[in-house]
Amino acid sequence: MNKATPLTIAVPKGRLQGAVISLCEEVGMDCSELKDPSRRLIVPVPGTTWRFLLAKPADVPTYVEYGAADLGVVGKDILLESRKDVAELLDLGFGKCRLIVAVPESSGIQDIQELDFNSRVATKFPRITTEFFNRQGIQAEVVELNGSVELGPIVGLADAIVDITETGTTLEENGLIPITDIARVSTRLIANQVSYKVKYDVIHSLVEQFRVVLAGKRS
Ligand code: PRP
Repeated sequence: MNKATPLTIAVPKGRLQGAVISLCEEVGMDCSELKDPSRRLIVPVPGTTWRFLLAKPADVPTYVEYGAADLGVVGKDILLESRKDVAELLDLGFGKCRLIVAVPESSGIQDIQELDFNSRVATKFPRITTEFFNRQGIQAEVVELNGSVELGPIVGLADAIVDITETGTTLEENGLIPITDIARVSTRLIANQVSYKVKYDVIHSLVEQFRVVLAGKRS
């Protein structure tokens, strides 16, 4: 690994963090400081000029687009929603989820075409949701939430939700059932467009190392 080129990698805090740490360790990065449960948000990779930046998942594309981070790890769902000008380098294969439309099981609705005119749809993904319902020719009011979207139908805020589901547990525990799949998503490695050109060698080398590790997992 090139020690001379400074490189910042934006890592999403939360559910993907463990998998990112494992992957980075497998290519030889010392992630001991990243595992330290302190509140530090910039974490060096000891013995290198590399560092991790710990960000809210939805902010990772922003840090990368503006060059505050050279690289970032982010779910395809967030990438699709953010529409930031970044280079998508690699599908890291983990964090596989479905982006779905779900409704209360008690509603009896089995198809999105059965939703009433102007139904309210709660989501963290307003752009994706608006475009999806437009494509389906369904008039819906999109209500943006920042999390715990499953609450929407329970408290009467929304008739349906658009959200990601991994195990299905959150839907089930809140009386919701998926009725339509919008997309399958997984975690992506992204790069700042300028960094990708200027620091091509070191970024390309890391991508190739990730590729080897990921291929080993698949075989
Ligand atoms: C995500 C998603 C669902 C849940 C689905 O939320 O928005 O709520 O995970 O996972 P499951 O199918 O495995 O139950 P997250 O945990 O990221 O928190 P948030 O709702 O606060 O965004």
